[in-house]
Amino acid sequence: MQEVHHITHPLVQHKLTLMRQKDRSTSSFRRLLREISQLMAYEATRDMPTQLIDIETPLSPMKSPVIDGKKTVFVVIMRAGSGFLDGMLEVVPGARVGHVGLYRDPKSLVAVEYYFKMPADMHERDAIVLDPMLATGNSAAAAVERLKETNPRSIRFVCLLAAPEGLKKFHAAHPDVPVYTAAIDSHLNDHGYIVPGLGDAGDRMFGTK
Ligand code: URA
Repeated sequence: MQEVHHITHPLVQHKLTLMRQKDRSTSSFRRLLREISQLMAYEATRDMPTQLIDIETPLSPMKSPVIDGKKTVFVVIMRAGSGFLDGMLEVVPGARVGHVGLYRDPKSLVAVEYYFKMPADMHERDAIVLDPMLATGNSAAAAVERLKETNPRSIRFVCLLAAPEGLKKFHAAHPDVPVYTAAIDSHLNDHGYIVPGLGDAGDRMFGTK
């Protein structure tokens, strides 16, 4: 399986280029992230199952499609994933939101869980996991492993940037989970940062550096 959807739409690529620039302000970075996540939400939800329901327009009854099943759940990998959430919710306002708290052990780069909260009835929901950076793949793989315990109907993973190493690791752990990304960069450096990348996504969106 190992599906990777590389989102090459010019608007997405243009905004990503602006976000990569090191002198971009926090507010501009945040605004671009919100805009790009709206565009990526379209791609990540493109093939969601629909069902026909009976409605009446002012002129006539008809059968018309709505998204099938319970509401989608966006699963935010804290903290950088939360920057992705606002734009996604603008496109899918009724979605539920789950949170996974993981931190990277600075020496081993292994993901350690400190928070996990999902909505009820996960078996009837399609989960879209959000984390802007698929770097080592450790946190993404650990978050999805934990999420699978709740048995959602489907899982997709959306990131802004992926490193080849992270994609490989993630796919080895979860070959059944498609990845949506705006770019696949060159490599990881010794500190686990994506090169050329955009730096620390959390620091850039929250201005914490
Ligand atoms: N997390 C980030 O924020 N940036 C990277 O390059 C890698 C992980």
